[in-house]
Amino acid sequence: MRPMDGKTALVTGASSGIGRAIAQRFADDGARVYLTGRRKDELEAAAEDIGSNAVAVPGDVSQAADLDRVMDVIRGDGRQLDVVVANAGAGAGARLADVTEEQFDFVFGVNTKGSLMTVQKSLPLLAQPASVILLASSTIHQGADGMGIYAASKAAVRSLGRTWAAELAPRGVRVNVITPGPIATPAIEGLAARFGQSVDDFHGALSAQLPLQRMGRPEEVAALAAFLAGPESSFITGAEHFVDGGQIQV
Ligand SMILES: NC(=O)c1ccc[n+]([C@@H]2O[C@H](COP(=O)([O-])OP(=O)(O)OC[C@H]3O[C@@H](n4cnc5c(N)ncnc54)[C@H](OP(=O)(O)O)[C@@H]3O)[C@@H](O)[C@H]2O)c1
Repeated sequence: MRPMDGKTALVTGASSGIGRAIAQRFADDGARVYLTGRRKDELEAAAEDIGSNAVAVPGDVSQAADLDRVMDVIRGDGRQLDVVVANAGAGAGARLADVTEEQFDFVFGVNTKGSLMTVQKSLPLLAQPASVILLASSTIHQGADGMGIYAASKAAVRSLGRTWAAELAPRGVRVNVITPGPIATPAIEGLAARFGQSVDDFHGALSAQLPLQRMGRPEEVAALAAFLAGPESSFITGAEHFVDGGQIQV
């Protein structure tokens, strides 16, 4: 018997990086996993790799109609959601003087509104008990140059996690926030390109700031998600859980 046999999970932003690793872990643990992301081909390839327990439902979390479609598919399969992971995220590196209205709307639209709508639209499908997992970022605890709107959008997610933990506790739903430090994913590769650095140099610079002196792996975030998804974390809600190589801790 595997820990998630018979369970159903939704993971947004699951075609690459952390979301994909979480979807893989949940499927390996026995769950049926619904994956969403905007790029249909990448998403379907990820689902195929993960295995027969993975279902790709393309969609953009910043678009309410797309999330309605995702929920319709899950409902149509006669499933309830035991676990929801609002993982899809996006960034735009810009200092205060340069931030555009479009960047602000885009970043808050995906990270903050997208997380809110993912959880809100999951509500009618949530099992009892259920576990909701939100993705923040260690940048919410720093003043990283050029990361202002990204960090603020994720600080809002952390705050929403507290409120939703209180609001959903009476119906047996726990809400927890995962706060990753630097994790080696395509998003970080994109950031390296934006700073004009090679991926190796960028990883090296980030690793040097961490007590553990290395980048995290998506699977290490997935291991925490697996713990928060299941009964072993049954007395934990509203909390923020760091997987950051000690970045914010020491
Ligand atoms: N990597 C890190 O160091 C790090 C650190 C702290 C926090 N985080 C957070 O962890 C989460 C995952 O990051 P990652 O590094 O794994 O990123 P990633 O490798 O770039 O993957 C992001 C995933 O989200 C999907 N996505 C992006 N925008 C979306 C949207 N509007 N609707 C639906 N899906 C969307 C992407 O697919 P499509 O492009 O096809 O939509 C992709 O599958 C994010 O919330 C990120 O902010 C990451």
